[in-house]
Amino acid sequence: VLDSSAGPKSMPVLAFGTAADNLQPDTLKMAVVEAIKLGYRHFDTASIYGSEQTLGEAIKEALKLGLVDSRDQLFITSKLWCNDAHPDHVIPAIKKSLQNLQLEYLDLYLIHWPISAKPGELVLQLVDLMPMDFKGVWAAMEESQRLGLTKSIGVSNFSSKKIENLLTFASIPPSVNQVELSPFWQQKKLRDFCKDNGIVVTAFSPLGAIGSSWGTNHVLESKVLQDIAEARGKTVAQVCIRWVYQIGATLAVKSYNKERLKQNLQVFDWELSEDDLAKINQIPQKKMLPREDLVATDGSSPYKSVEELWDGEI
Ligand code: A2P
Repeated sequence: VLDSSAGPKSMPVLAFGTAADNLQPDTLKMAVVEAIKLGYRHFDTASIYGSEQTLGEAIKEALKLGLVDSRDQLFITSKLWCNDAHPDHVIPAIKKSLQNLQLEYLDLYLIHWPISAKPGELVLQLVDLMPMDFKGVWAAMEESQRLGLTKSIGVSNFSSKKIENLLTFASIPPSVNQVELSPFWQQKKLRDFCKDNGIVVTAFSPLGAIGSSWGTNHVLESKVLQDIAEARGKTVAQVCIRWVYQIGATLAVKSYNKERLKQNLQVFDWELSEDDLAKINQIPQKKMLPREDLVATDGSSPYKSVEELWDGEI
């Protein structure tokens, strides 16, 4: 497990992701315990995933079994959902996440989406969308860090422009921007912007989230990636993970299968050649999650188009 330098504590490059639409708590708990046994130290959750409680139980179990000596050896990321993306709701929301996880602090807390929803129930299908008070919400995120509820703070699904705006008033700059990133959505401009500003980019769905309702098989079935994998004696998933690492990003990847969990860690003792990277660069780009559901022309969303939501980075 290698380190990047986000936040006060170094962040393990490879996180085990816990977003799934057919989440089986027992399967998740077993997979997390197995992952810790295999050497995973970073776990990525969010209040909306419904996985915080199970992850918390798995961490407790791992500590009981002595798989890690203390909680400090783990890096835990969670995210603020849109209904709580209001200045007064941030601290209660992170406290609720900590309660779900049975933890005293997070290592990283992210604003999940650059949009707010009416305060109230935690629901995935967003209605009553409204513009976020970025300044007020970020000040509350900073406060959560100052209070020790999280070691570092960041954002998710933010364009370069939205981060640029955040940086004009932030006292604590975001340490991470977690975004869709795979060989099919390479985000070069955003990565360059984040690098120039000392922000670590974390990839979600690096394998195309195959098996999820929002996922695609384009990535794992890509001929270009299959050819590279075959030539290197690796799997397409390993090629994707290695590619993310080699372009300087970190990632959240999930598997509930022990062999694949193990396989996904075996990406640090070999490399893709310049030629491989050039071939991957040529892959036609297609964003998997444009989130048309978050835009509307009738005033029911602050964003009128996906171009506006992503500030043209689409
Ligand atoms: P499984 O749990 O059966 O291993 P993403 O991280 O992009 O969201 O993708 C996760 C999906 O990719 C899961 O459905 C997972 O299925 C699958 N997956 C994870 N690792 C591998 C791998 N090494 N080879 C093939 N599929 C994988």
